Amino acid sequence: KETLIVDCDTGIDDALALLYLLHDPEVEIRAVTTVFGNVDATVAAGNTLRVLELVGREDIPVAIGARSNWRGTADLAPFVHGDDGLGNTGLPAPAAAPTSEPAAEMIVRLARENPGRLHVLALGPLTNLATALLLEPDLPRLVKHVTIMGGAVRHPGNSTPAAEANIHNDPEAARMVLRAGWPVTLVPLDVTMTEVFTEDHVDRLRGAGTPVTRFVATILAHYLDFYEQNVFGARGAACHDPLAAAIAVGDVSPVLAPVVAVDVDTGDGPGRGATVADIRGQYRDFPAQRGAAVRVVLGTERTFPELLADRLCG
Ligand code: BDR
Ligand code: CA
Repeated sequence: KETLIVDCDTGIDDALALLYLLHDPEVEIRAVTTVFGNVDATVAAGNTLRVLELVGREDIPVAIGARSNWRGTADLAPFVHGDDGLGNTGLPAPAAAPTSEPAAEMIVRLARENPGRLHVLALGPLTNLATALLLEPDLPRLVKHVTIMGGAVRHPGNSTPAAEANIHNDPEAARMVLRAGWPVTLVPLDVTMTEVFTEDHVDRLRGAGTPVTRFVATILAHYLDFYEQNVFGARGAACHDPLAAAIAVGDVSPVLAPVVAVDVDTGDGPGRGATVADIRGQYRDFPAQRGAAVRVVLGTERTFPELLADRLCG
């Protein structure tokens, strides 16, 4: 299917995305690189190593990346993911350690070693990818594809009224990545907020009773609490990162995904971090657009939560 570098801020839904991919024997994860976002990048690396240990894949290297954005700030999200990023579950420390190679350098090295083969799946702020672009200006020609969970096109933001968290955490980096000219698929809140994992899905996981399903049910408790109290008013969790993973490897085909130009608001007003996609063609079936480079996923079939539960139980 795909050979991936997963860049993430693990994080409850990042952990789900990793487990989803790790359960597919046809997907190869060459490396996981971590970035600040839900938690600090070092904590995200520890959480990633825990997930890899759970499925016996300590052979996959984990590299730590940016601990703040280009302005030197890091807005973490313990209220969504817990202080530890995994729902305050107090899991034991992983046995393995991250590599000493920094994330952006690892991305550049692997891209040079595998020209045209690697698909980068970005599930956190885009600081590592932007840093990698600065280190290797030829990166857009070395990488096969970039799939990004981020942005809000017609949907409101979640960090601010206008901006989604991954983009809002480093709008300057996001702008650079979205305009680098490489083939990008953007999976925004417009689709991730409608793919909801419910308490029934969690019951299925509990029933399966495997180490993986027990782990996922445990970490999801905090995430479901957050969504119930702050977002939906009912038990349900948005499948942001796992949906982006499923789209990246072709398991979910978008039903509406125009290729358009996307820019990011890097100003200091209320729009900071907003993704401005040129979807003015929506009444004419999105005619071809000059300078368009981003496939923006605006519609899916909405069957993904079942697929995710099946995969994790299987
Ligand atoms: C995105 O932000 C992070 O909190 C999640 O892991 C996801 O990648 C959703 O806005
Ligand atoms: Ca994430």
